[in-house]
Amino acid sequence: MSQAAPPTGSVDQICDADLTSLNTLRLPARAHRLARPTTLDALSQVLAERNPAEPLFVIGEGSNLVIRSDLPGLTLSLAIDGMAQVKEDDTHVWVAAGAGVHWDDLVDWTVEQGWQGLENLSLIPGTAGAAPFQNIGAYGVELSQVLEQVTVMDVVTAQVDHFAGHECEFSYRDSRFKSRDRGRYIITGIELRLNKTPQCNVSYGPLKARFGHLSQADISPAAVREHVIAVRQSKLPDPAVLANAGSFFKNPVVTKEQGDALKVRFADLVAYAQADGVKLAAGWLIEQAGWKGKRLGPVGMHSEQALVLVNHGAATSADVVALAEAVRADVQATFGVSLEQEPVLLP
Ligand code: EPU
Repeated sequence: MSQAAPPTGSVDQICDADLTSLNTLRLPARAHRLARPTTLDALSQVLAERNPAEPLFVIGEGSNLVIRSDLPGLTLSLAIDGMAQVKEDDTHVWVAAGAGVHWDDLVDWTVEQGWQGLENLSLIPGTAGAAPFQNIGAYGVELSQVLEQVTVMDVVTAQVDHFAGHECEFSYRDSRFKSRDRGRYIITGIELRLNKTPQCNVSYGPLKARFGHLSQADISPAAVREHVIAVRQSKLPDPAVLANAGSFFKNPVVTKEQGDALKVRFADLVAYAQADGVKLAAGWLIEQAGWKGKRLGPVGMHSEQALVLVNHGAATSADVVALAEAVRADVQATFGVSLEQEPVLLP
């Protein structure tokens, strides 16, 4: 368990900072000024010294970003560290982590303790602070299911506040921080509630195939984590090896009528019933539209998972935008379905 950072903290500040290594798509861009505060105090000091008129951007490890051009003003990348158990009862533990903690270090540590809840979210790139922003999800689990509260700092007043999970307005890859309160708060830490007695969720296809025949008592979070890592590594490119920002589009939700009509035309359509319609597998749509493994200039759609846009080297944001537009247009023309981009565009 790492120690919480000291209360005063420090701030690394760099002018004209290169952001190429701070975005996993490896798009070339610079930040006018980049600051990396290590504590809440240090963050409030940076905010107090900032000209409120200058633009402000917050990035984690840049694993869900498309940086279109240089960032003016101030860019913050929080280095608030520390993860610790803060509370427990007979059945649960509560765990807190600083926004700057590498997400998978948190998953790894909790699974090592035998606590259950994060194992399906193994190996997702990025920081703990970025996790609630887009309500990360994988293999049948979303962060919202285990999130107790989010600690935030108001960018104008530097006041610290807490939002309980149910106040975060979570939905599929969305939260109030990404939508209606965008730019208002900086997420500085998270608190999660995990199970002491494992009740692993193995309902998602590849997990069901591996664990479906076992009773809960025989399924450990460590085994689920190991399998999730193997499945991810078989399909998803490691951003350290092949630059990418994970799924480039959301899985679109269409009406039940539209889903039924598509099923008549495309018998093997991959679709999941939802309360509000039918969710389609965007990767399947993109593959059927002919883009799996296909390149346009230095970028392409991944050969193992068509939903992931990859940078084969030296791509610019214009290359990314051109490919995304071409894919969107072909999926629209083939299926009449509109794809929504998943990574955040900056500035
Ligand atoms: N499929 C294809 N071709 C492809 C890719 C997928 O036909 O090239 C079909 C397959 O039938 C497959 C189905 O789509 O069974 C679903 O694919 P997968 O299990 O890989 O999941 P996904 O819906 O493509 C979502 C998340 C991923 C997450 C996985 C696993 C979104 C936008 N993406 O992908 O999250 O890891 O489920 O839960 O919801 C991310 O957000 O960056 C991300 C990687």
